[in-house]
Amino acid sequence: MEVLRVEDLWVKVEGREVLKGVNFSIKEREKVLIVGDNGSGKTTLAETIMGFIRPDRGRILFKGKELKGEEDFNQIRRKIGYCFQNPDEQLFCPTVEEEIAFAPLALGKKREEVEEIVKELLKTFQIEHLRERPTHKLSGGEKRIVSVAAVLSMDPEVLILDEPTLGLDRKRFQILSSFLKETEIPVLLITHEKELIEHLGWRVVRIEGP
Ligand SMILES: Nc1ncnc2c1ncn2[C@@H]1O[C@H](COP(=O)(O)OP(=O)(O)OP(=O)(O)O)[C@@H](O)[C@H]1O
Ligand SMILES: [Mg+2]
Repeated sequence: MEVLRVEDLWVKVEGREVLKGVNFSIKEREKVLIVGDNGSGKTTLAETIMGFIRPDRGRILFKGKELKGEEDFNQIRRKIGYCFQNPDEQLFCPTVEEEIAFAPLALGKKREEVEEIVKELLKTFQIEHLRERPTHKLSGGEKRIVSVAAVLSMDPEVLILDEPTLGLDRKRFQILSSFLKETEIPVLLITHEKELIEHLGWRVVRIEGP
């Protein structure tokens, strides 16, 4: 079963053609690496899939259903966990704990259940010590790992991660790359990190710049 499909996607940003006919698909449990030069349009592609940018041409399908209006994109934003290239655009809660608890609470999960999710994710990424910290005071690497944990707390059906390992120390890099290797969630991973690309060994989709 196909989870995500992008067909002949053409996208202009500020009047300039950035994506010119991008095609790919991800099946259940499949994981894909998106690579390409700086400015080739990888982030633009992720933002188009999430419906933040509208394409001039082409189709985006989630589980076989074409995403058209705002209503469709609203729906899939609850199902696709999207980790922004810049964590400052993503993190918005006062503390790390609240950030990770936000999505499951918004999805109507019970307090006790949410507490378990938060505990589990803090443990998975070994960030228990950050629990009560204000998110806006975190270091760059801390922000990045917290933003990954926050996206996972919604129990996404697909993950789209834009450079999630940028600025991570050795330990956190290894925790995250093992997590990505082991997870059963389909992943679309944008990265420049050679070591990660080799470690994961996933199918590579190259975005050619304009
Ligand atoms: N809001 C914007 N206004 C003007 N130009 C933009 C805007 N957003 C993106 N661009 C341009 O669109 C092109 C694609 O940008 P994008 O961020 O998608 O590249 P990328 O492949 O993610 O690059 P990187 O590897 O550096 O993250 C770039 O030339 C960029 O300057
Ligand atoms: Mg980018």
